[in-house]
Amino acid sequence: MTSSNPATVYRLDYTASSFLADRIDLVFDLAPSVTQVRATTELHRNPDSENRDIVLYGEELELVRIAMNGKVLAKPDYATDNGELRIPDAPDKVTLVIDTLLHPDQNTSLMGLYLSNGNFFTQCEAEGFRKITYFPDRPDVMATYTVTLRADREKYPVLLSNGNLVEEGDLPNGRHYAKWEDPFKKPSYLFALVAGNLVCREETFRLADGRDVLLQVWVEKNNLDKTAHAMESLKHSIRWDERRFGLELDLDRFMIVAVSDFNMGAMENKGLNIFNTRYVLANPRIATDLDYANIESVVGHEYFHNWTGNRVTCRDWFQLSLKEGLTVFRDQEFSADRTGSESGRAVKRIEDVRTLRQLQFPEDAGPMAHPVRPDSYQEINNFYTVTVYEKGAEVVRMYQTLLGRDGFRKGMDLYFKRHDGQAVTCTDFLAAMADANGRDLSQFERWYSQAGTPRVKLQSHYDEKNRTLTLILSQSCPQTPGQTEKQPFLIPVAIGLLDSHGKDMPLRMEGDKAAPNSRTLELSEESQTFTFIDVAEKPVVSALRNFSAPVILEYEQSDDELLHLLSHDSDHFNRWEAGQRLALRRLLSLTKAVQADRTLTLDSAFIDAFRAVLTDTALDPALRELALTLPGEMMIAEKTDEIDPAATHRARQFMRRTLAENLEKEWLNAWQENRTEGAYRPTPQDAGKRALKNLALSYLLLLDKPAYGRMAIDQYHTADNMSDRLAALTSLVHSGWTDKLPEAKALPDHFYREYENEALVIDKWFSLQATSPNADTATVRKLMKHPAFTLKNPNRARSLIFGFCHNNMAQFHAADGSGYTFWSENLIELDRINPQVAARLARCMDQWKRYIPSLRKPAEQALRNVSEQSLSRDTREIIGKTLSA
Ligand code: TRP
Ligand code: ZN
Repeated sequence: MTSSNPATVYRLDYTASSFLADRIDLVFDLAPSVTQVRATTELHRNPDSENRDIVLYGEELELVRIAMNGKVLAKPDYATDNGELRIPDAPDKVTLVIDTLLHPDQNTSLMGLYLSNGNFFTQCEAEGFRKITYFPDRPDVMATYTVTLRADREKYPVLLSNGNLVEEGDLPNGRHYAKWEDPFKKPSYLFALVAGNLVCREETFRLADGRDVLLQVWVEKNNLDKTAHAMESLKHSIRWDERRFGLELDLDRFMIVAVSDFNMGAMENKGLNIFNTRYVLANPRIATDLDYANIESVVGHEYFHNWTGNRVTCRDWFQLSLKEGLTVFRDQEFSADRTGSESGRAVKRIEDVRTLRQLQFPEDAGPMAHPVRPDSYQEINNFYTVTVYEKGAEVVRMYQTLLGRDGFRKGMDLYFKRHDGQAVTCTDFLAAMADANGRDLSQFERWYSQAGTPRVKLQSHYDEKNRTLTLILSQSCPQTPGQTEKQPFLIPVAIGLLDSHGKDMPLRMEGDKAAPNSRTLELSEESQTFTFIDVAEKPVVSALRNFSAPVILEYEQSDDELLHLLSHDSDHFNRWEAGQRLALRRLLSLTKAVQADRTLTLDSAFIDAFRAVLTDTALDPALRELALTLPGEMMIAEKTDEIDPAATHRARQFMRRTLAENLEKEWLNAWQENRTEGAYRPTPQDAGKRALKNLALSYLLLLDKPAYGRMAIDQYHTADNMSDRLAALTSLVHSGWTDKLPEAKALPDHFYREYENEALVIDKWFSLQATSPNADTATVRKLMKHPAFTLKNPNRARSLIFGFCHNNMAQFHAADGSGYTFWSENLIELDRINPQVAARLARCMDQWKRYIPSLRKPAEQALRNVSEQSLSRDTREIIGKTLSA
């Protein structure tokens, strides 16, 4: 706990470790209140280091004994200070035997060794291994591990660690043991153990090279019937990596374990991936279509890390995007390929871009803005961000856009050929891409070093007489904390041209032989001009197709041009984009109208365009649903000079209600016609239908017609899957019918009782109430008193507290500041339990300086109240940066 700013770590201060570890042997005597750990580590001096001392890291450890080369050490043979243990002037080769004691039952941070529902788990990334034993806990120190686990046989029948099981047996006093050996060298952050009362679904699976491997999904007993989808997802992931990248599983055994208490989504520990239960457990009764899709993508993500992260790892934590950006890109491509269709790929792309814009663009414009490869941090846990992950994935995607799929694959092949078994940097990745394709990509490095979302301005001029089209592209990038000057980026801008019938026109430049229908312009200077010839008529330009770069495009197009793109663009992404731009334009003027107390109106051209999309049965339901979903409140707010959450909320509600009134018949049709046939299947087709159907229901419930309320109640009762049931309940609660219709009143309770024993569904129950436009702090405080609520479980805390603070904008930013008071109280309490999760809650206030003046005062007061407390390093860093920005 700190009251002043913690020390800052700088990327450019990197120095090699003084000693390297070759092997480590770990023995755990597991018990909840006192666990004994003996670590026997073989180290040798690193010729690349000037430092003579052995430097080990350790936190919250009880050191019992330390011996070097057979001799017990006593101070001043060694010194401990501020999380470091130093042995001065050590011999070149040493074996250290270190005994430490841990208290897993006291560990609420969920880093290091901890308990969840009575079972033991570890989480070591990024710096959790130092909470287990003293070790050079940094990713560029790679060793082979043998691990012996000893525990009570009855309470902990299952003992797992990385690699292969080499020995197991009984011990006196009802205890037993298991010994594991991981043949691959790994950094300490990939170490894991699991011990407890678990069961598994297992299968033997044949790899492309003919080897048989054992796949297991481990869960608590009552969840065994929810593991089929995770197992299927794992097999699909293995196949996909073989086919798309020629990468095979390198172990004989691959395990997934689900745990209810977990700080993040999942963790790629070598051969022993540990998952938040929410990314493993699914059956139609408890999981929605979105859950099914998320499980497939996270199972893929962690599996793909085996090559991008584990076989080739990061030199230091500033290089985090080397593994995360690349692995997110890989999981995005996996999910896109899994849809099996062009429009499925587009749906996936739109969803990913929506996340980027809703979460990463604001981050890039706020006090926590940082480059994809950050330059400094106080707490590395705070840099597992949407910038490192999602923008990082966009950066990797741009290589593929610039080099083509084959060129990208060549780059990947060279990357593995050069760096297998090494800990490397983002620059090494760039070099492999450049060298494999014989291209100079030095300018591309700026995507790693410069923060902020670049603006790309486009101007187009059609010359009727010469039949030429001139495109002038220019770029700029706003200032971000610590970066005032920005150099131009290398930006791929994919372009298409539509004729008056909506058909693609060929794009030909002077001297070209071929004239493709879409081409990627490379913008590398501050401003560049591109001229196309033989352009038969004045085209409508479709710019930044498929979102070819993570930039904000500024290009003035009339409503007519956008309507043309919305109905005809061959690029699905840009069809969707045109609809969003039409809506955004109106939402911004409606927000202004609300603020000026003017009457709100919506033009019929826009309503007609929405009607056309809604009734266009040639278009995939999933795409229609995305096109008909209005930009979120955060997206709209981002575009205003001063954020007025209440006004934005009212503007958006007005547009939704108007669309409901004017398209009532069409919504009803959509609800009726998109029912799915037969047993529940979470396929993209069926999920798309359900999404459109349930969007239609949510619009209909905005009308003052009890008949629709009853229709939703009926859907709730007859649904054979969680998607339909949850959608009905959520819309009923959010549109206030649970207060107005007697038959609806009891539904929240009914839902609770029905799923009382399904923690993941109870999370949904809390979160649907927390995100209701009708829920204020009083509602949420009351829910916190519910016996099922606890701040200790991250999923539960996120469902209610984050649900309200992050995803209920209008209520959280209530004019009286009650939301901010609520936030500060919970943040302070949560910080004492779990700093990593608390620091994420702290991020709600990122944008406080951009809100209307009446909100800024209570926001600042709440931030200062928090700042006066003794805080964790995690939360201190966020609050400090938020206040000083
Ligand atoms: N490497 C994990 C992933 O993205 C992230 C992760 C899981 C993590 N648990 C964590 C990061 C705890 C920091 C702390 O796949
Ligand atoms: Zn990851």
